[in-house]
Amino acid sequence: MKKIGIVTSGGDAPGMNAAIRALVRLSAWNNIQVIGFIRGWEGVINNRFTVLNPRSVSGILHLGGTILKTSRSLEFKTREGLEKAAVNLEKDGVDGLVVIGGEGSVRGAYELSKFTDVKIVVLPASIDNDVYGTDETIGFDTAVNTALDEINKIRDTAISHERTFIVEVMGRKRGFLAVEVGLTAGAEVILVPEVPYNEENVLDILKKNVDKGKSSSIIVIAEGVGKTSSLAEAIEKKVGVEVRVSILGYVQRGGNPTARSRHLASIFSEKAIELMLDGVGGRLVGLMNGRVSSISLEESISNEKPLNLELLKLAEKLAI
Ligand code: F6P
Repeated sequence: MKKIGIVTSGGDAPGMNAAIRALVRLSAWNNIQVIGFIRGWEGVINNRFTVLNPRSVSGILHLGGTILKTSRSLEFKTREGLEKAAVNLEKDGVDGLVVIGGEGSVRGAYELSKFTDVKIVVLPASIDNDVYGTDETIGFDTAVNTALDEINKIRDTAISHERTFIVEVMGRKRGFLAVEVGLTAGAEVILVPEVPYNEENVLDILKKNVDKGKSSSIIVIAEGVGKTSSLAEAIEKKVGVEVRVSILGYVQRGGNPTARSRHLASIFSEKAIELMLDGVGGRLVGLMNGRVSSISLEESISNEKPLNLELLKLAEKLAI
């Protein structure tokens, strides 16, 4: 292994920079040259890259986002795009490619691996935490803490005004962020795409809360549920409490990575470089039961990461 490429792809996640830094520096220890493709898969398709060395990744460890930039490339979903990318990897003389991204990036990496012999390893990084093959993705912990900080503030005003707040968190397809944020913020109700939406049930819980003497409530809803405004209307009409909606949005994607996100970036990068040195590709690095391990990209994309529904039950009990 003499030369590798790095690409960050899909939605950015805090800790991507920590991973870039770790990969570049661990490569330097092993005399591996590194190039970083610019703007995700688009950079690989258009062969836009920059040479990275231990000094070019100074001062980025604490920064959110990705210095390599990212994109959601439609062209990469076509055969032509994949072929162009594969040709460029060969032209650039890279023996390995480390992809830092979420579930879509794992799929992209798997598709690309059908067109090239370059060893491809993926480091899971996404605020959605929805990658099969790892207990946790880089960036998830940061997003949880960002949302939690916001909800702590919302709780102050909710209590003061005796209002019900519906707080929408990210998660177009999955509810990992909503569950973790809801549990740790002490939400009265948590709604996720994985559980069929039942408006009557939510209204019932809120009515009971009023009877129990709860003067304010917080509902955490994943954006993928898609019921934020209709639920707000229904609660005002049928429960008779004042409702406000707060959509947290893109603040959840940015910010300084927490220690946990940086830690995962460091240990996942170490494993990726180990795999590269062993000439192993087609793998996703992850954390399984607290240990760094790897599974095949094919296994990762063929399975859906299960959401721990027990945590929803626990949150419900805690909101008595
Ligand atoms: O990064 C994951 C995610 O935040 C999803 O939860 C969200 O739906 C999506 O990205 C939106 O991102 P974009 O607007 O960049 O497509």
